[in-house]
This record gives sequence, structure tokens and C-alpha cells, in this order.
Amino acid sequence: MKKNSLYDFFSKKRPWSKIKDHLLSWYLTPYLAKVFSGARNFYLIDGFAGPGVFEDGEKGSPLIEKEIVEKTNLSTKNKNINFNLIFVERDKKLFERLKHNCGDTPWIKCYNESIERILRQILSQLEQNAFVFLYLDPFGINGLPTNLLDLISERKDLKIEILINFNSVGCYRECMRLLGSKQFDDYFSENEYIGDPDRSIGRMNSILGTSTWPNVARTKNAEYKLSLYFCDNLRKKYKYVLNMPVRDFNNEEIKYRMVHCSNNCDGAILMADNMISKAIFNKISLFSLDLEGNIVDVDSVIPKIMDFIPSTTEKPIRLNQLLLKFYEKIGIVCNSTKIKNYLKLKEKNNDLIIYRYPEKSPTGKTSEFWSEGNGKVVLIAKKMHL
Ligand SMILES: C[S@@+](CC[C@H](N)C(=O)[O-])C[C@H]1O[C@@H](n2cnc3c(N)ncnc32)[C@H](O)[C@@H]1O
Repeated sequence: MKKNSLYDFFSKKRPWSKIKDHLLSWYLTPYLAKVFSGARNFYLIDGFAGPGVFEDGEKGSPLIEKEIVEKTNLSTKNKNINFNLIFVERDKKLFERLKHNCGDTPWIKCYNESIERILRQILSQLEQNAFVFLYLDPFGINGLPTNLLDLISERKDLKIEILINFNSVGCYRECMRLLGSKQFDDYFSENEYIGDPDRSIGRMNSILGTSTWPNVARTKNAEYKLSLYFCDNLRKKYKYVLNMPVRDFNNEEIKYRMVHCSNNCDGAILMADNMISKAIFNKISLFSLDLEGNIVDVDSVIPKIMDFIPSTTEKPIRLNQLLLKFYEKIGIVCNSTKIKNYLKLKEKNNDLIIYRYPEKSPTGKTSEFWSEGNGKVVLIAKKMHL
């Protein structure tokens, strides 16, 4: 992308940028309500901040984040929380606009730096056990930190969740360029994509966590397969990694993928559930897509959940872990209520054995709940009919 195009990008917010903003705010609102209710220290790091406001007046991610944090702080009962927003923007001119747009807010710090260079320093200064939300929204895969997993290992105490706008199509293009193909050079609208100036085989190996990507880059569905590599790499440090394709329904193409990483089962369920319910409510049906990005018939896909349930001879699986397995392997195609309704039917049909703790309600009734949290546990196994 030429320098002028970088600034052109912020002249007017495009529909695709609006979708990722929705996703960010839909998640941040309930996530922050939860974190603010109990945390001592919280940091939100926006690694590719931009100027904060587009020239058409639309808010960019930093101001969206600021507004949600302000609202959460006003409504929380936890007055002891120490919270900070850290915005990183590499371009000097955009950084100046960012600082101006953030105003004189004591809990916001802006850095005119490259996120890959400054992230270690930022993380090293945070208090023990702080909660951190890291938002990475690069152009293409340009600037995506390759040292992310190392940095997370260095601060295992921090509770870091990451939301990444992974430009899987851009990644595919970069892979092909590394393999010597010029086929895709003019493919992207220059306003939405910056080629990776640091591209190298080694860097791609780090981003995808494997050196075998050339084997898939030239095959069918390469974009999808590369996104699986990207997510599997993140799974080396994160228990739950959700891969959410965002599709252009006009020309059937995947635009990008939002990837959410968390070690907290409830956080991951919150992300999945919230995304799909809000998308349906707002008539943005992004997620009745499977992992490959195909529109699916939800009712015919839900029964696949049975494949992830161990049989009675094995260890039963917890309900929330089962839901996440389904979302990770099949995609966020529907909300968890729909899946639970299917499981309820299976329980009635005697196809499942369910262990619930506590086994009885306070009034002595046998528990029948279908949710976890607040001391409730649901364990599931599949009955083998002989
Ligand atoms: C896609 S835009 C981000 C838009 C922003 N999230 C929003 O919603 O308004 C990417 C931004 O990251 C900046 N940038 C590019 N590489 C960077 C890097 N390595 N470190 C920090 N900022 C970078 C670009 O100048 C650009 O402003």
C-alpha cells in the first residue's frame, strides 16, 4: 500500500471494517462487565490502533474501546480496579491524530511504535495476574508479531485474551509470493491491504507455526487450510481458539477471519454465544458459516456434536468444553441454546448419560440444569446401544 492509500483507508469507514467493529464491541461489553466485577488490574492493548476517528466521523477501534471501558467503569461496583488503555500506532501522522482524538485521558497511553517491537516492554511492566485484552487489527499480515507466543510464555501469570483480525486471504497471497508466484499481486484492493515488507519463509513459518505450509498453499481451499495452521499454532499456548470467517456474500469470498484466543472456557463460550446471537439479532448473518466459510443448514450440522461426546467407557466431557469443541471443529454456526436443545432431546431418548453437580436443587429436586458456572457442573457421556 502506498503512503497515500494508508491515509485514504481512514477517509471513510468501509462496510468490512464496520463488521469487525461490531464483533469487537459485542464481545468487549460482556467481557469487560465480567472482568471489571472482580479484577484488580486490567489493560486493553490495541496494537494497530489507527487514528481513532475516520475522516467521515466514524469511530475507529480506540474510541470504540474507550467508550465501552468508560461505560463499564461507570456501572461497575468494583471501585478498586486499575485500568489502562494502551494504543500503539506506527505511523507518525496517524499517531498524532490518535493522540489528539483520545484527548487528555489519564488512563490512556499512546505509543508511536511498532507493536512487534514494543509488546515485550509493555507486558513486562504489567502487575502480576493482571487481565489483558490484546486487539490486533493489521493490514494484511503486515506487522503481525511473530514473537506473540514467546511473549505469552514469559508472562504466564497474565490472563491475556487476544482478538486477531487474521487476513487469511492476505496470508495466502504472501505464501504464494514466497513460493515465487506473481499471480496474486494485483488481486487486492490496495486500500485494504499492505504487502508484508518483512516477508520471509522464516517469518511465515513462525506465523503459521509450521514449515509445511508450502504443501497446502498450492492446493484447493488453501486459505482455509492456512487459517487452520494459524489457529493450531495459537493452540500451543491457548486452550480455546475460535476461528470465525467473515464472508463477502456478493462474491462468495472470505474477507478475513476473526480469531479469538482464551484460556478461559467461559470467555470462549461468551465470545461464541454473544457473536452468533448479536449477529442474528442485527441481521448480520456472519456465522451460520462453517469453518470453511460455507453457509450451512444448522439443523443438519448440530447432530455432529455426538462425534465429540465420549462413550460411557471413557471419561465424560464437560458441557462447556463440548460446546467449544463443536465450535472449534465445525464453526460457530448457531448459539449454544440450540445445541443444548438437541442434547436435551438426546437425553430424553436415553442416548446420553448426564452427571450434574450439585445433584439436587436446594429444595431437594433432582438437578436438570443445562448450564455451567457458579458451582454448577454438567458432565456428558454417550450411551452405547448394543
Ligand atoms: C487496519 S488499520 C487499524 C484500524 C483500527 N483498528 C481501527 O479500527 O480504526 C492498521 C493500522 O496499524 C498501523 N500499523 C501498521 N503496522 C503497524 C505495526 N507494526 N505496529 C503498529 N501499528 C502498525 C497502520 O498505520 C494502521 O493505522
